[in-house]
Amino acid sequence: MVDAAVKVEDGSVVYAGPGSDAPEQGPSPRVECDGRAVLPGFVDSHTHLVFAGDRAAEFSMRMAGASYSDVAKSGGGILSTVAATRDVSEADLFEAAAVRVRRMLAAGTTTVEIKSGYGLDLETELRLLRVARRIAAELPVSVRTTFLGAHTLPPEFRDDRAGYVDLVIEEMLPQAAPLADYCDVFVEHGTFSADEARRIFVAAQGLGMGARIHAEQLAHSGGAALAAEIGAVSADHLDHVTEEDATALADAGVVAVLVPGASYTMRSSQAPGPMLIDHGLTIALATDCNPGTSYFESMGPVISLAVVQMGLSTDQAIFAATRGGALALGMEAHGTITAGSAGDLVVLDAPSPAHIPYRPGTNLVWKTIKAGRAVAGASGPG
Ligand code: NIG
Ligand code: FE
Repeated sequence: MVDAAVKVEDGSVVYAGPGSDAPEQGPSPRVECDGRAVLPGFVDSHTHLVFAGDRAAEFSMRMAGASYSDVAKSGGGILSTVAATRDVSEADLFEAAAVRVRRMLAAGTTTVEIKSGYGLDLETELRLLRVARRIAAELPVSVRTTFLGAHTLPPEFRDDRAGYVDLVIEEMLPQAAPLADYCDVFVEHGTFSADEARRIFVAAQGLGMGARIHAEQLAHSGGAALAAEIGAVSADHLDHVTEEDATALADAGVVAVLVPGASYTMRSSQAPGPMLIDHGLTIALATDCNPGTSYFESMGPVISLAVVQMGLSTDQAIFAATRGGALALGMEAHGTITAGSAGDLVVLDAPSPAHIPYRPGTNLVWKTIKAGRAVAGASGPG
């Protein structure tokens, strides 16, 4: 058994190292881990977790052979979640999102990025961002918020793409800016072009928001090159990224946020994680939690997909799910256990991190510790 100890004071790690050298225990409670592995809390750097309804029927249609775009054309897809979400009060949206976040906490997530994008009108987009901020205020989790007004064209603008892009830039962005740390655009054939996205990002950056991009998810559409060009904080999905894109992203210091749960649910091939690492990129892993393409709430199964299907090593996948995610969110003090870092820890009911990819069907989290306080886990919150 490894002789190791971590001491957290006032929410931050003050000591991490051999137990024999650990400083005196203060008045705060001591957790005896008895040989269990301790990791940084998971950082889930890409989610769409504020939404209403579900799309189980659409999932069944796709499993029977319908494509994502067939489903979207028949009135399903993102727009069916938009219709359901517009209909629900802010209080009910909060309750539904909080239930998801509590399950995430129980599975070891201590930081989560939350996007809007199921409103697609000013009022509803702002409502989703307020719900995300309320999650941060009321639950023991760190939150970063992202405005994704350019997720798809709302029905009111079906025949007026330019009009919707103008609305996003002129009306939505200025009002979303106080509630959103980042701006995201779904760059994809038939959704938003790289040129439309560039205009949105220039405006967002002018308002102090960082850029993150849904890039190269369903086809190669130029989102990764745009991420490098504008200095986005992250380029996400990247199932169809090329080696040329990888070089540009690495040169620009863009973090690659990979979401293997979406590729799995969509029955598409996984993003080339090992190739991106070979090109020098920092990789993050995230759930992409959403009701259409990736209804994953836990990071454990995502880590398992990254190891089993994408070809990352366990160490690479654990790094990506912790430190990589923190870097994707510009959170320097998170995703690591060292003096000065955030006191966010996961204690596994297993002796090593390899058990996470090896046992994807079990929540191995024994205790989730947020800022030094036990908040969830199979052993109970205490
Ligand atoms: O990350 N790609 C766009 N957005 C989501 C899907 C949203 C949905 O289908 O509702 C994604 O996969
Ligand atoms: Fe997404």
